[in-house]
Amino acid sequence: MNTQTQIPPRLPLPGVGRLLAVASGKGGVGKSTTAANLAVALSLEGLQVGLLDADIYGPNVPTMMGAQEKPSMTDEGRMLPLVRHGIKLISLGMIAEPGLPIIWRGPMLAKMVTQFLQDVDWAPLDYLIVDLPPGTGDVQLTLTQTAPIDGAVIVTTPQAVALEDVQRGIQMFNTVSVPVLGVIENMSAYVCPNCDTQTDIFGHGGAASMASLYDIPFLGEIPLDLAVRTGGDQGTPITISLPESSPAIGYRDIARKVLASF
Ligand SMILES: Nc1ncnc2c1ncn2[C@@H]1O[C@H](COP(=O)(O)OP(=O)(O)OP(=O)(O)O)[C@@H](O)[C@H]1O
Ligand SMILES: [Mg+2]
Repeated sequence: MNTQTQIPPRLPLPGVGRLLAVASGKGGVGKSTTAANLAVALSLEGLQVGLLDADIYGPNVPTMMGAQEKPSMTDEGRMLPLVRHGIKLISLGMIAEPGLPIIWRGPMLAKMVTQFLQDVDWAPLDYLIVDLPPGTGDVQLTLTQTAPIDGAVIVTTPQAVALEDVQRGIQMFNTVSVPVLGVIENMSAYVCPNCDTQTDIFGHGGAASMASLYDIPFLGEIPLDLAVRTGGDQGTPITISLPESSPAIGYRDIARKVLASF
């Protein structure tokens, strides 16, 4: 079956300035955590920001942003995003029935994502961030072909196995002509809160080398930090709960680099 012909065209999003994808080649590297904190960091720069959780496998944004309710609908049948920490949010996890994601394949998935972009009252927004599922399979390819994405940031951990997946991510975005704005190294180093010793649990610096190899910007590194994880679990990203912490400063620095890249 030729699914290419059934993929809807990239429709512009009226009232939405830029669409940014947060991607990773590998699962569990901190993509949703990064998407949530980047959204907050951009809003702290004075911008209006939305966050679309397009991860059908594990929609985590509702937990990480503390937004569990079902979104309401307008009389015209448009969905109203929830608003938390100043960010407009929609997640498949707010709507999906248990088991349903299994049947979302190719054209159906494309249609659903188009609806999440087109039939949600996002506007007015300066930035809409899309938290993609991990990997570079059909689903991600369809998403990046369907959504009018202006740029992608790729999250990785420093160790080699994750970096191999970054190469695939970069190639995928090249295939669909989406500019890669840069790479973020997450869980980069661990600083012991008791003795201040730094330990590079997953290594350190791999993402910067990868970025230079592929001639794409290195956007920054976020340390492995307990408060990043608890912030996510408790629904208050560290950029809000501990704005002076090293990870929060790192996210804000990355947000400014993203803004400067357009
Ligand atoms: N810098 C960090 N320090 C400590 N914990 C972190 C950090 N980044 C992410 N985590 C934690 O690691 C776990 C995985 O993060 P997250 O869910 O953001 O990854 P993901 O790439 O979105 O995963 P998936 O591929 O399943 O969507 C979460 O429990 C999160 O709180
Ligand atoms: Mg995730």
